[in-house]
Amino acid sequence: MYILGIETSCDETAAAVVQDGSVILSSKVSSQIEVHHRYGGVVPELASRKHIEAIVPVVEGAIRDSGIKTSQINAIAATRGPGLVGALLVGFSFAKSYAYALGIPLIGVNHLEGHINSVFLEPEAPPFPFVALLVSGGHTALYYVTSHTAIELMGQTRDDAVGEAFDKVAKLLGLGYPGGGVIDKLSKEGNPDKIAFTRPYLNKSDFDFSFSGIKTAVGHYVGKHQSEYKARMADIAAGFQAAVVEVLAYKLIKAAIKKGCGHIAVVGGVAANSGLRHKVRTDAAARGLKVHIPSVQLCGDNAAMIAAAGYHYLKAGIDAKLTDDVFSRAKKPIQEFSNS
Ligand code: KG4
Ligand code: ZN
Repeated sequence: MYILGIETSCDETAAAVVQDGSVILSSKVSSQIEVHHRYGGVVPELASRKHIEAIVPVVEGAIRDSGIKTSQINAIAATRGPGLVGALLVGFSFAKSYAYALGIPLIGVNHLEGHINSVFLEPEAPPFPFVALLVSGGHTALYYVTSHTAIELMGQTRDDAVGEAFDKVAKLLGLGYPGGGVIDKLSKEGNPDKIAFTRPYLNKSDFDFSFSGIKTAVGHYVGKHQSEYKARMADIAAGFQAAVVEVLAYKLIKAAIKKGCGHIAVVGGVAANSGLRHKVRTDAAARGLKVHIPSVQLCGDNAAMIAAAGYHYLKAGIDAKLTDDVFSRAKKPIQEFSNS
């Protein structure tokens, strides 16, 4: 079965063709980073306009690269939320009209379920059940995943998402937007033990996270060391990253032990972080757990993961109606959105 996936929840216009929820035939991502860079963050109105410009060429390119004919596409899966409403509307409305014109099913995919399904695009997919850590610019959460459509929330951030913390710290260090990749790179030149930041929520018994305090702590450090902080940027970045990574890896492994799972996954834009990838792999190996982290290009927003999730929704008999609307925030456990 061939699914055309479409993703426009934030600042990437993406389309992909995926076979049977696991084989990527094509995947195109058109990034808007250059547009938003000068504003230090995503400007929603500009994002919507750029999606409108990019959606047709990106979809056409994905179909062309896939080597299949348009008439062979079995269904269209598009991100329905959470994300920027104006941005989501471009991809979801496009998907509605295209599915209607082709006479094929439309599937509205939860972006977070898309990220979780990214692990099934890799050769060694995890068996169910497994525990997944989702770390992105908008979300940070731990899930107990028992099937493609049964995903239980175990804990989440009470304030900033971890990617947001990376971006805000990069901004206050004057490193530009988005900041995750820059901090990751800079950390490699620094000493993570030189400037120790407290590990937020490490000793709380639940699976929730908090990242706004550590961002403030970095801000205080910079404020107190105005004249010398520029010379210590790599140590600040390394200290911040080490603190964040330690909490994420610790809670992920604790969650897997609690649920008796032998397999864990890390997904979302921040899963590209080299420190996080290394720490999770090292700590999991010490506990005998098997780790599943997608290749870097599948960590950030892409449409292959949306097509993969869409395939499993369709197999479970879940499709969307032309009257369905997009949604900006996930207020309920994510699987409830699949059925609404
Ligand atoms: O999943 P994603 O592409 O979009 C959302 O759904 O939010 O995640 C984007 C986030 C941004 O905050 C970006 O700074 C962060 O992922 N990110 C990283 C790295 N690469 C991207 N954070 C830490 N280290 C990285 N290497
Ligand atoms: Zn995302």
